Amino acid sequence: MKIVFATGNGGKLREAREILGGGFELVTPMEMGITEEIPETGSTLPANSRQKAEYIWDRCTCNCFADDTGLEVDILGGAPGVHTARYAGEGKDFDRNIDKLLRDMEAREMEASMAREAGLSLKDFGRKARFRCVVTLIINGEQHYFEGTLEGKIARTRSGNGGFGYDPVFIPDEYPDRTLADITEEEKNAISHRGKALRAMADWLAARSL
Ligand code: IMP
Repeated sequence: MKIVFATGNGGKLREAREILGGGFELVTPMEMGITEEIPETGSTLPANSRQKAEYIWDRCTCNCFADDTGLEVDILGGAPGVHTARYAGEGKDFDRNIDKLLRDMEAREMEASMAREAGLSLKDFGRKARFRCVVTLIINGEQHYFEGTLEGKIARTRSGNGGFGYDPVFIPDEYPDRTLADITEEEKNAISHRGKALRAMADWLAARSL
């Protein structure tokens, strides 16, 4: 089936093509003449995912889907989460950077006091993290949602050349000695947040012969 994937991220597109396989012809917004960056101003992953899919539907009334992904780090109280893409303050906005710094510090303090309350040292919280991916599908004007998560931890240093984004510092539970950038794309797709969400979408469509 022909369907627009509301992304300008080459890494996501490559993975989605691999995960969904030959039964899907993925079209980019650019190929539909949508050249501007798709806004994502929501305050949650589902809101952003929906906003991106609706942006495409409103412009071309075509079947489409969007993926919004966040990295949730326990020791940061779940941050960067929905702000994952702009965590480093792209745009060099100092106000935003200072806000982020204060938020991060508050989060760490909260974690520290939780750790103390639980009788654990900060170290015991480990470096646990997860990727959460929310996919919004708009098919014949109706919206459907699919989600996938990948549990793991954050490495102390980068490793590997594969993948994209935060992959060089994310160690999935399934491969405790390697980051997502160390394993093959096939291995990543088999366990990843995006793999789970997109396979759920493909199964849903197949069950309805769509
Ligand atoms: P968004 O879903 O386009 O908002 O992306 C959020 C951020 O997470 C971006 O900086 C991406 O590069 C990053 N990201 C999304 N998916 C992955 C992934 O599978 N591995 C590593 N980083 C990712």
